[in-house]
Amino acid sequence: MPVAKKIQASMEKSSWIRRMFEEGIARKAKFGAENVFDFSLGNPNLEPPLNFKRALIELANDPSPSLHAYMPNAGLPATRKAVADYLTENNRQTFSPDDIVMTVGAGGALNVVLKTLLNPGEEVIIPSPYFVEYNFYLDNHQGVPKIVKTKPDFSLDLPALENAVTDKTKAVLINSPNNPTGKVYSKEDLRDLGELLSAYSRKLGRPIYLVSDEPYRKIVYDGIPVPSVFDAYPESFVVTSFSKDLSLPGERIGYAAVNPEISDKGMIMGGMILCNRVLGYVNAPAFMQRAVARLLRDSVDISLYQMKRDMLCNGLSECGYEFEKPGGAFYLFPKTPIEDDVAFVQALQEENILTVPGSGFMGPGHMRIAYCVDDRTIEKAMPGFERVMRRYKK
Ligand SMILES: Cc1ncc(COP(=O)(O)O)c(C=O)c1O
Repeated sequence: MPVAKKIQASMEKSSWIRRMFEEGIARKAKFGAENVFDFSLGNPNLEPPLNFKRALIELANDPSPSLHAYMPNAGLPATRKAVADYLTENNRQTFSPDDIVMTVGAGGALNVVLKTLLNPGEEVIIPSPYFVEYNFYLDNHQGVPKIVKTKPDFSLDLPALENAVTDKTKAVLINSPNNPTGKVYSKEDLRDLGELLSAYSRKLGRPIYLVSDEPYRKIVYDGIPVPSVFDAYPESFVVTSFSKDLSLPGERIGYAAVNPEISDKGMIMGGMILCNRVLGYVNAPAFMQRAVARLLRDSVDISLYQMKRDMLCNGLSECGYEFEKPGGAFYLFPKTPIEDDVAFVQALQEENILTVPGSGFMGPGHMRIAYCVDDRTIEKAMPGFERVMRRYKK
């Protein structure tokens, strides 16, 4: 067997999105791309802001030497300073460049933090439904996921989270605004989670860390605030990227920030910097670090995503779909009218509508619709959504 057994098993387990992807290619070839409504991937359809292109042109013309050289593994000092200033502007705490590691996207940042924290067999509590790449990231560092269901409205279930804490719990990993539900956790929920973790950290005599994955922080609607985990709990990390808010997922640029009040900060930062290096990232891409330092206060036009959300929610609601209206990100996670979400997604496929079964996110009985697509796709898919609902609704 050329491939390690574990990788082969993972390839089989992660086949849902891959199957949707392959099905999409086959259907596009057969029916024409304009007749296939692909809501399966979280690939932003908006172009990066014009300021990004302007920054690239200016930076490319900078005659300074060594701009493409190796650098400190944590990233360019000027970029880390720019990120620290931005975080200071938007939080109660004061950040310094020493609180920041520039990373290869949020995925890179998560791997850096998890590798830094986890001893083999230690547990990470994750509210579900969730971004299932977390399972692979945990496995990379021999961590064990402990999955805890959220409430029916996808908010945190504090008693259930408390129940999941054991003497092996090393961290809680949350994601708000959430993929796949679009939920934004409230200030009260984060405060209660912080209090819970403080109490158990005291009991265990060591911190349980809170890691907050926030690549969708700027993608929120109706002015809803995204409260800070730094305020809720001192032993906390934020991992994020520019993949979604600047539409740069292919450029692989993000960062991890530690709470300036975290205990043993020097050791933790030293660990993260080493992990960034030995994971083989070495450092985040230099050119992108220089670009995003100028774009920290920019984003794509979020109102366009809000219009897509409203168009989709209004249309589906009229067809009888039930869902929690998302406060952020660009995903809708409706209930499927039958328990078998896979069968329902397959029925949609026959209408050339590609979605992902909720089971793929540990949220069975639902499906994920990624609405970072053009408006025409939403509009043209609606009759198909309606036909399939009519067939199944009792
Ligand atoms: C919740 C969540 N975390 C992390 C990532 C990874 O982001 P990046 O492309 O910045 O690595 C994604 C990408 O879809 C995501 O949805």
